This record gives sequence, C-alpha cells and structure tokens, in this order.
Amino acid sequence: MARLEGKVAFITGAASGIGAACAKRFAKEGAVLAGFDRDEPVGGSGDDWKAAVELAPGSTLQTGDVRDDEALGAAVAAAKQAHGRIDILVNSAGVGSGGPVHLIEIEEWDRCIDINLKGTFLASRRVLPIMLEQGSGSIIHLASVEGIEGFEGGSAYNASKGAVMLLMRNMAIDYGRKGIRVNAICPGFIDTPLMNSVMGMPGLEAVRSRIEDAHQLGRFGRAEEIANAALFLASDEASFVTGHALVVDGGYTAGHRFGIGQLMGLDDD
Ligand SMILES: NC(=O)c1ccc[n+]([C@@H]2O[C@H](COP(=O)([O-])OP(=O)(O)OC[C@H]3O[C@@H](n4cnc5c(N)ncnc54)[C@H](O)[C@@H]3O)[C@@H](O)[C@H]2O)c1
Repeated sequence: MARLEGKVAFITGAASGIGAACAKRFAKEGAVLAGFDRDEPVGGSGDDWKAAVELAPGSTLQTGDVRDDEALGAAVAAAKQAHGRIDILVNSAGVGSGGPVHLIEIEEWDRCIDINLKGTFLASRRVLPIMLEQGSGSIIHLASVEGIEGFEGGSAYNASKGAVMLLMRNMAIDYGRKGIRVNAICPGFIDTPLMNSVMGMPGLEAVRSRIEDAHQLGRFGRAEEIANAALFLASDEASFVTGHALVVDGGYTAGHRFGIGQLMGLDDD
C-alpha cells in the first residue's frame, strides 16, 4: 500500500522548491493535495507541483499570502469541504532575509518574521481545529540549519527559524495527547529558487562554493531529499516521532574541516 494512501496534505509554499517537491512525493504515495502559495507555479521546481496534480487528481492550489489569516482560513475550509479532512500540514512558505542588526530595515525584519514565523503559526492555527476534531494529524515546519546555529548577517532569518523550532516543540507538547504529531525539518542549503536567488546576489560567487564545501557530502541538497524526510514524518512510519527537528543537511552541522585530514592519513580531497 502507498505510504500516504487516503491522506490529505495541506502544503504552504507548494508552488516552488521544497513545498512543490513535497507535493510531488506525497502524491506519488497516494495523498491528495491542497496547496497554498502567493504565486502560481512557474517552470523549474514549479513543474513538481504540476506533476503532483497529475499524480493526484482533485488536488488544488489556492493563491494567497500566509500573512493573511482570512485567505488561509478560506483555503483550509475549501480543502476540508473538498476532501473531508486534513491529515498533514507542511509549512514550507518562507523567504530568505537578513542583514546585521544595525543595518537591517525594520520593515525587512517584520517581513521575514511575519512570513517565516507568523505564517507558520497562522497556517497551523487554521488547520489544528480540523486535526483536533479528527484526533490525528502530522504537522511539519520547515526550519533550517540556520535555526540551529548562526550565520553571518543572518539576523531576521535565523531568528525566525530558531523560533519556528521552539514553536514546533511547544506544539508537540500541547497536541501530543490529541493524536497530533509536530516536527520540523532543518535543511542544509538546498538547490531551490530561494537559495539561488540569495546566492545569485552580486559578489557571492566565491562564497557559493565555500558554503557548498561546508556540507560534508561536498554538495548542496536537492528538494526531493527534503521531501523524502517530510514523507517519513508525514507517514504512519513516524508514529512515535514528535517534537523532533530532523536535520537533513549533508553534514553541514556535523562540524568543521580545517584541512588536517591529510596529516591524519586521509586522502586529500
Ligand atoms: N532552500 C534552502 O536552502 C533552504 C534551507 C533551509 C530551509 N529552507 C526553508 O524551506 C522552505 C521552502 O524554501 P524553498 O527553498 O523551497 O524556497 P522557494 O522560494 O523555492 O519556495 C518557497 C515558496 O513559498 C512561497 N511564499 C513565500 N512567501 C510567501 C507568502 N508570504 N505567502 C505564501 N507563500 C509564500 C513562494 O512563493 C514559494 O513558492 C522555506 O521556509 C525556507 O526558509 C530552505
């Protein structure tokens, strides 16, 4: 039997990157999808959403902003009306941001926190009553390795992801006895439009390869590798997993390499 047979997944940020990859992976495993995104899917990773809809007829994508509680409420109500339930919530809508604290504009700080943190709260708040009524559900927040450790100039982004991690743990405590599991995924740097727009900024060409090298597997991750982790957390295979931040980072947070491997007898690579 498919791993998500009969389940309904509400996915924010479903039009691109990790959200779209989750949609496609979940659809392959029998789920039907209710996507939510401020944008329509376009080329590249947007094709994952289109593939998901082909795999799971009846899936829909509502356009809206995760900062807009009314729009989220309408999309969640439409999903419940169409499919009768919501078993999985993936909070993937997010934006990159940052700047040292004395330089970042207050509006930019608010934009980042409002989308990454408050958007996660608002979507969860709308879906939870349905899961509570069912007595079951799996919620997955997209946090980041930048919710675990700092990053030069990260400020608002790191603060938003660190807060998402603790929101996840608190929700795991509050809803565990109601049959609802809540987990987070902490991706390393993943090849998506978000990462490429940040790395495409002028002057960052050399930095890109240094960041890639900081992953012990020697490469950036792929969106489907995050979707595989989300599939596990969404499925009944993770029935005893809650309050957990699953790091999927190619070894980015494992530690540091300072080039002394050769002295220790390792091949130089
Ligand atoms: N790509 C990475 O390296 C990486 C690493 C760690 C964590 N993450 C997190 O994973 C999540 C997905 O990122 P991605 O790399 O797939 O990015 P992406 O830009 O490819 O996709 C994000 C999607 O969210 C949507 N979105 C953004 N703001 C929105 C809003 N206000 N309302 C509704 N939708 C909105 C965008 O339209 C887009 O479709 C984000 O939360 C991001 O912070 C990404």
